Amino acid sequence: MKIAIAGKGGVGKTTIAAWLGDYLNRQKKQVWLIDADTAISLGPALGLSLDEVPIPLVNNKKLIQERVGTGVFINLNPDVEDLPQKLAKDVRGMKLLVMGTISGAGAGCGCAANALLKALLAYMILRSSQWMIVDLEAGVEHLGRGTITSVDGLVVVSEPSIRGLQTASNISRLAKDLGLKKQVLVLNRADDDFKLPEDIPLPKLAAKVPYLESLAERQKSSSCVLDLPEVEAIDKICEKIIQEIKK
Ligand SMILES: Nc1ncnc2c1ncn2[C@@H]1O[C@H](COP(=O)(O)OP(=O)(O)OP(=O)(O)O)[C@@H](O)[C@H]1O
Ligand SMILES: [Mg+2]
Repeated sequence: MKIAIAGKGGVGKTTIAAWLGDYLNRQKKQVWLIDADTAISLGPALGLSLDEVPIPLVNNKKLIQERVGTGVFINLNPDVEDLPQKLAKDVRGMKLLVMGTISGAGAGCGCAANALLKALLAYMILRSSQWMIVDLEAGVEHLGRGTITSVDGLVVVSEPSIRGLQTASNISRLAKDLGLKKQVLVLNRADDDFKLPEDIPLPKLAAKVPYLESLAERQKSSSCVLDLPEVEAIDKICEKIIQEIKK
């Protein structure tokens, strides 16, 4: 099963991606976690120090040149089959692939980096049968129709505010336009009694995540979001998200 996570900046996408991965990993599933966002957030959220995080694919100039080429002679259909194993970092038994975003690519190599990133992401999503969690940047449109529609579900994360929910609604509509029909909403840092506004079209609510004091406290000294005292409650939230996508 493949799940992509999208939402406005700072809403908790990476945290929820890490929780989902960790939950599935403890269920003895082989999990691939793909950081397709600002490059170095998912690794630290899993507990890696910055120097343990692999360099993002978009910054791997040598590999980009080798597979895609440069200038006008770029190969838009590069060989990527060997890359998942080659580039993945093992974290607690999960496989972490750090891709980064196109905006993170150095000047001049954006186009080639884009080609490699897209090809690898498409390969992973279309060909692999393993559990995969993709931590996306806010938009989903850069993925393109073929790739994004092949994920089993999109988790749209939002905070319980009108502006946040409007952004979530926009992301959801864009994804729907691309053909990604299976979507669920996760409200993060939400009180249990928060009621969704009826006039904003949103995916079906799968779960509410409360504000976690323990996580806020933890983040003062560590970037890791795992092994919190609330792990049982977090596992239940992850299970609800997965079940809702499966429906
Ligand atoms: N339910 C929560 N309770 C307390 N803190 C939280 C909660 N969810 C997320 N956080 C904290 O909020 C911060 C932002 O979360 P996170 O990095 O997951 O968001 P993001 O959507 O991935 O952000 P970005 O857009 O920058 O990638 C982190 O420090 C995270 O630990
Ligand atoms: Mg993030």
